[in-house]
Amino acid sequence: MSTEFEPKILAFVCNWCTYAGADLTGTSRIKYASNVKIVRFPCTGRIDFMLLLKAFAGGADGVIVSGCHPNDCHYTSGNFHARRRWMLFRGLLDFLGIDVRRIQFSWVSAAEGAKWAEVVNKTVADVRELGPYSEYKKAAEFLAGNEDVLLKEQEVAQ
Ligand code: FES
Repeated sequence: MSTEFEPKILAFVCNWCTYAGADLTGTSRIKYASNVKIVRFPCTGRIDFMLLLKAFAGGADGVIVSGCHPNDCHYTSGNFHARRRWMLFRGLLDFLGIDVRRIQFSWVSAAEGAKWAEVVNKTVADVRELGPYSEYKKAAEFLAGNEDVLLKEQEVAQ
């Protein structure tokens, strides 16, 4: 039995391109790492980046965000909004203590089954190299279990 660390990866994908691309990966029988659980959204523009933090708080070791290529979004500009949000969010990761390599942002179309396999395999390899990630989960659990203490500290500080 292998004792190699198997990363838990959560993928937030748009319905029209990447989800269909991931489906094509399966129907084309392209093999790829099975560490990914997919959450489907109508468009990457609908993905609240706080969900990425929730994924880490819930025990994910890595996250993939993927949607239609620029100018292919079925809602015209949702992927441009997502890209802008990602550029802002990226700057916060260091402050939060999250290694940027734990999050993969990509464009995968419905015709790119092989690319989806590459994105997943690369993310799994990168996260495997980084090792398990539990710091954010521990911090979130601490904050959730000590809300009353933190509120009292805030009151004293004011
Ligand atoms: Fe795919 Fe907007 S519909 S990114």
